[in-house]
Amino acid sequence: MSRTIEPFRIKSVEPIRMTSREEREQLISEASYNVFRLPARDVLIDLLTDSGTGAMSAAQWGAMMRGDESYAGSDSFYRFEAAVQDIFGFQNVIPTHQGRAAERILFSTICEPGDLVPNNTHFDTTRANIEFVGAEALDIPCPESREIGTPYPFKGDIDLEALQGAIEGRGDRRIPLVMITVTNNSGGGQPVSMANIRAASELCRKHGIPLYLDACRFAENAFFIQQREPGYADKEPIDIAREMFALADGCTMSAKKDGMANIGGFLASNDNRLAEAERVLLILTEGFPTYGGLAGRDLEAVATGLYEALDPGYLRYRIASTGYLGENIAAVGVPIVQPPGGHAVYIDAAAFLPQLDPLEYPGIAITVELYREAGIRAVEIGSVMFGAIDPESGKERPAEQELVRLAIPRRTYTKSQIDYVVEAIIAVYERREAIGGYRIVEQAPYLRHFTARFEPS
Ligand code: F0G
Repeated sequence: MSRTIEPFRIKSVEPIRMTSREEREQLISEASYNVFRLPARDVLIDLLTDSGTGAMSAAQWGAMMRGDESYAGSDSFYRFEAAVQDIFGFQNVIPTHQGRAAERILFSTICEPGDLVPNNTHFDTTRANIEFVGAEALDIPCPESREIGTPYPFKGDIDLEALQGAIEGRGDRRIPLVMITVTNNSGGGQPVSMANIRAASELCRKHGIPLYLDACRFAENAFFIQQREPGYADKEPIDIAREMFALADGCTMSAKKDGMANIGGFLASNDNRLAEAERVLLILTEGFPTYGGLAGRDLEAVATGLYEALDPGYLRYRIASTGYLGENIAAVGVPIVQPPGGHAVYIDAAAFLPQLDPLEYPGIAITVELYREAGIRAVEIGSVMFGAIDPESGKERPAEQELVRLAIPRRTYTKSQIDYVVEAIIAVYERREAIGGYRIVEQAPYLRHFTARFEPS
């Protein structure tokens, strides 16, 4: 059979609430046209994030029941540690409550003010944690990543020439580590090839610089390598993942993505001395090194989930279902980042609404219309999230791209629900010429996208 179906049946369901268009008009206006301000109960299909929003398996819920809540040395920790060591190959496994806690501990241990940290593209919490310790976060995605509509199999690759340039031209600046984010979330959920990780690893090792992977979506990345990179078609995703991590010296991980859990993360490396310093910080803010801010049952959910994320049948379905959404909206002309990513489809809002200036926030306009049309929640990744005030002119500078991300929670929505999303996006696309822009009427000085209030402009 060529048709890909959900490789699970549903044991437990959670009702979602249908609202009328009139109710949604009222609700989105009360939320000041910012979907972050909507109560989740008023959202029908929530594509805000794939982080912590997935459905756990019966095996994970079962494992949670044997969660050992001992403060020190719980059995659950040893199972968690063994799973991470088996898949990721790093000896020091430090549990954290989520990915950004691992980032904070890593960067506050390894970075000093003035240091430079290159990455294909830093996720916003990664960048913020680097900048918080006075270091600079440098984004160097490969040039192909800037061509929104061109399909290229590994748009997540780091720009190796730029990396070499950064390492050789750094002068007296220290590069304490290089990072590669797999898949590249901020760059369209695009995968990184093994060849690219290998070349970056060789370059880093030549210069004695540790290479870390931001591993949130490592299983999806491994599957893309299997499907797209010559020489990997016959390898299992778990072996591809092991090969990826063998090229690195450590990783940060949010288990809310390919850990298939609702909370959790870790920091791992083979550097014993560094890990000792990291554990000191961990105890200060997260917890004892054998639980790191998580309950024993959370550690169990992750230990089981990491293997489920690597299951070939699951990954085939996962990547096919994201691709299905992308291909069906692209087929009628909706402009998206091509090819569709692993965890999300990204609409090119600037091309969708060419009548709007970037500072009329076309991404916000699309998120509002998707909610109005069908109760769908997506997220703007454009000038509201990444725009900045120019320090010289005091004027607002738009972001490089205006995107809307439709992130798909793992194992959560059925194909018929995705068909509903497709229908809604097409309906909005068909009336795109009548869609107007927005202006900000209230905003916070940092991370304004979460709380800003808008009005139609
Ligand atoms: N790195 C990447 C690539 C991420 O996508 C995220 C989170 C993090 C680090 C931080 O992990 O949330 O567990 O602290 N991304 C979510 C998203 C929030 O919606 O893309 P966290």
